[in-house]
Amino acid sequence: MLEIIKLKGISRLYKIGQVKVTALNEIDLSIEEGEFVTIMGPSGSGKSTLLNIIGCLDRPSAGTYELSQKRVEKLSDSALADIRNKYIGFVFQRFHLMPALDALGNVQLPLIYRGVFGRERRKRAKAALEMVGLADRMHHTPSQLSGGEQQRVAIARAIVVEPTVILADEPTGSLDSKSGSNIMSIFRNLNREQGITIVQVTHSEEMAQYGSKVVRILDGQIERIDKVG
Ligand SMILES: Nc1ncnc2c1ncn2[C@@H]1O[C@H](COP(=O)(O)OP(=O)(O)O)[C@@H](O)[C@H]1O
Ligand SMILES: [Mg+2]
Repeated sequence: MLEIIKLKGISRLYKIGQVKVTALNEIDLSIEEGEFVTIMGPSGSGKSTLLNIIGCLDRPSAGTYELSQKRVEKLSDSALADIRNKYIGFVFQRFHLMPALDALGNVQLPLIYRGVFGRERRKRAKAALEMVGLADRMHHTPSQLSGGEQQRVAIARAIVVEPTVILADEPTGSLDSKSGSNIMSIFRNLNREQGITIVQVTHSEEMAQYGSKVVRILDGQIERIDKVG
């Protein structure tokens, strides 16, 4: 299988005044296209830093990163933004929806940025909302939706541009366990049926069971990798 994500010797140092923090310390990690990978570790161990580098929101201080076989660690901000737009869909713990827009409006946003207009845009946004089981909630605004439903809107917004990879940072962290399991089932379907590669961060061993392997990190290093099942 194609290695869609290939990290070698990835380190990330933060400097604040005289204080240096090594958030990631020489991470080697390869993820194949079609995998569903869970990253676990204590708070402050570097999970979000790792996900942000994988998602081209941040650059490593050292090491090499190949995304879809292209070196990306030294690209300019605008080149990174292009790569991000082409390959990556993000889902966050706090859903980051626009409060004034209904579900359909929120899901259409990334298509507006890409210059998809009118009926085509609405059609694709509706299809994405149907995929997450929200066909009957298209005209609800975020405040009229439950947390689990808001996260499903956020997932629809991520998949509407047909990303190769979905990156999710604690996507069920603010949901009850039933809504969380529902989000995991949606991820599992997207992974199995659309072949979307998924990398998620979670604190929940239960949610980790939906993926195919668990990467355990501690103090910015990979402690071990466990296969699920
Ligand atoms: N922007 C930043 N500036 C300085 N230090 C940071 C920054 N982001 C994260 N860190 C530090 O890097 C370490 C890893 O953080 P993070 O990746 O957010 O951990 P996790 O997501 O596992 O909780 C922590 O010690 C954190 O304080
Ligand atoms: Mg984090």
